[in-house]
Amino acid sequence: VLVYLDGQVLPLADARISPEDRGFLFGDGVYEAVFARRGRLLLWEPHLERLRRGLAAIRLSLAAPEALAAVAEDLLRRNELADGDATVYLQVTRGAAPRAHAFPGPEVAPTVYLATRRHQAHPAERLAAGVAAITLPDVRWSRCDIKAIGLLGSVLANQAAKEAGAFEALFVRNGVVTEGSHTNVFAVTAEGRLVTHVADHHILAGVTRAVVLELARDGGLAVDEAPLPLADLLACSELFVTGTSTEILPVTTLDRRAVGNGRPGPITRRLREAYLGRLAELAG
Ligand SMILES: Cc1ncc(COP(=O)(O)O)c(C=O)c1O
Repeated sequence: VLVYLDGQVLPLADARISPEDRGFLFGDGVYEAVFARRGRLLLWEPHLERLRRGLAAIRLSLAAPEALAAVAEDLLRRNELADGDATVYLQVTRGAAPRAHAFPGPEVAPTVYLATRRHQAHPAERLAAGVAAITLPDVRWSRCDIKAIGLLGSVLANQAAKEAGAFEALFVRNGVVTEGSHTNVFAVTAEGRLVTHVADHHILAGVTRAVVLELARDGGLAVDEAPLPLADLLACSELFVTGTSTEILPVTTLDRRAVGNGRPGPITRRLREAYLGRLAELAG
């Protein structure tokens, strides 16, 4: 398995990062995970735009982030992943320097790391039955809009979900559902409206989320980017989560109770089909 690190493509086993890297010491960096089909990145533009926004938000200057698309596609080829579906992981940190909280000088170059892996399709049973989710207090910081590598809040929440036999943990802040540990959350109300949290500082504006909103509006659904009180979530008729690796996945059990009739709903299924159709279109 080959990876890209600071201008070089090399075997994963030979890739070395300094213990002084600020990603390691402070979680001082941002990342992206991008879907690729037949060796080509899909939806790269919105990922690049979010990467630029994140870099600007943490005041990290990286020369030519747009050039990482070619690096990613080259790495996919070299890893023999240009035949099917894959994900590219891309991380930029503020580089290696003696440990001090404030930024190092301009002579310290960012660390840039890319890795690829084959996309894991959901097992058919998971799609047919939907998954379970639990709710947890959103203990994360107030800049969840930055795709920061410091993911301890999400790690602990996802581990709690796993230990509860659930696929995902949904965060609740001030009585409102924000997002999942690694997904955005959508509910379909009893009236058939699609509701998801507004893209403010409390959630990551998912690339998949944006595509789903567009497909829903194009399909004539009533869409609200509005607070989703936990009480409403428990009464919704359909619930699903979205993400680049997760795609669109129905949630049929929430805190051990059935969502709606306990089976994936028609709107979720329609949106999932539309989303997969969009990916197929983009792949050409
Ligand atoms: C906290 C969080 N929200 C939402 C998402 C979904 O984002 P995207 O659709 O861009 O993958 C992710 C993806 O990793 C995430 O970590």
